[in-house]
Amino acid sequence: MTSTATKLSPPGQPGWRGAFRDFTKDHGFQPLRVEGKLPEDLRGTLMRVGPVNFGVGEERYKHWFDGDGGILAVRFDGRGARGAARRIDTPSIRAEREAGRIISSGYGTAIPLWRRLTRGAKKRNAANTSVMAWNGRVFALYEGDVPTELSPEDLHTLGETNLDVIEGTFSAHPHRVPGRQTTYNFGMRYGRVTLLDLYELPDGGAARHLGQVPLPGPTMIHDYIATERHLIFFVTPLRLKIFRMLLGLGAYSENLEWLPELGTQVLVVPIDDLANPVRIETEPFYTWHFANAYERDGSLVVDYVRYPDFSTNAWLREMSHGVPSTNAQGRLNRATVDLKARTFRTEERSALSSEFPRVAPRVQTREHRYIYLGVHSGPGAQRGLLNAVAKVDMATGREECFELGDEQYPTEPVFVPREGGTEEDDGYVLAQVYDAPSDQTHVVVLDARNPGAEPLARAWFDHAFPVTLHGGFMPMK
Ligand SMILES: [Fe+2]
Repeated sequence: MTSTATKLSPPGQPGWRGAFRDFTKDHGFQPLRVEGKLPEDLRGTLMRVGPVNFGVGEERYKHWFDGDGGILAVRFDGRGARGAARRIDTPSIRAEREAGRIISSGYGTAIPLWRRLTRGAKKRNAANTSVMAWNGRVFALYEGDVPTELSPEDLHTLGETNLDVIEGTFSAHPHRVPGRQTTYNFGMRYGRVTLLDLYELPDGGAARHLGQVPLPGPTMIHDYIATERHLIFFVTPLRLKIFRMLLGLGAYSENLEWLPELGTQVLVVPIDDLANPVRIETEPFYTWHFANAYERDGSLVVDYVRYPDFSTNAWLREMSHGVPSTNAQGRLNRATVDLKARTFRTEERSALSSEFPRVAPRVQTREHRYIYLGVHSGPGAQRGLLNAVAKVDMATGREECFELGDEQYPTEPVFVPREGGTEEDDGYVLAQVYDAPSDQTHVVVLDARNPGAEPLARAWFDHAFPVTLHGGFMPMK
């Protein structure tokens, strides 16, 4: 592979450092160079969102998650691939860019109080976490604010929207329940009592505020998972220092306290009976992401990536500045929640250091066999970006890593079913990959049934794009 780009990782630094540079080369859909052979039945668009700058002007954000959002998309049409990459343009992002300095406190970066009082902005919508497609519309999501609508044609920013129902925030992790032809999501509202707002977004219909469920305290919830009948939340022992936030002291995550003595509350909300949630108190643990959940004989089976505590946040903060001082600690777990006995059991199902678990869309809310996740592979890898994609067979425990090659840094793997396929794993795994040697980004197309094989194809951008957090595949209609 040849490249005219300059590799900017300083000598002695790992190759993945090059993925943490500010992105400025916005462009609409244009042909991508394809290596290998794209499957003819792979038709649709992969969209990914993540933080694409790491500061403004001379000032750097303290945390990866403070970067402004950008979207990377690749459209496959059976013959070739076209790619687009754009920065997202919310009012708060625009105001900060115009100011040339950080003017609002965010997830992990606080501005000094004097700046907040003189030139600061109270609101920050970084639009940097995920992308949601719903009823032909596309939205960039950020859990601290409302969705930002993007043009499905060329991804330019249309504007913030509350979908006519959102009263507080809207999380970056909506989940679809195929059996109900509806997508569900939540938001948070801090007050005398912290409330979880629940929303439903039916296919073809208008969004609706389902109701509210009180939480045990002011906490942070990043993701949840849905079954056919329940919405499941792990309310970890993080508590927000509300008064410090009201006074504008410190960034959001700096005001989160880990209080293990509180334990984690497993909160199960019946979709059709919001007023009667089941609450199970269990040992303290932390989770960012769920893979899937389903109902089995009155119990809920929940697969998720588990952490012993919230030190994962320091790891993520350090990532955007250099090599983290500790190892990543996420491990795939399977929990069983017995709703009658009100018990919670969990067991580690893979010793791999992992994150961003996904399943095939056809098994969402149903019993699944395979989970695809980003993993750390090789000595010392746990202090860097994910460097491999794995497939875990939950029936046998077999773990297989896809062959990406050295110095390849993938994002969350997205499974796309093969047209006419009947087996759960009959399809493709797509991942955005930063290729450190060439300092360029591509989307790799992997054969989900054959992890040991070479990738089927790679669609190359002629530039690097920072690591994105989440995304999805929108099939071509
Ligand atoms: Fe997430």
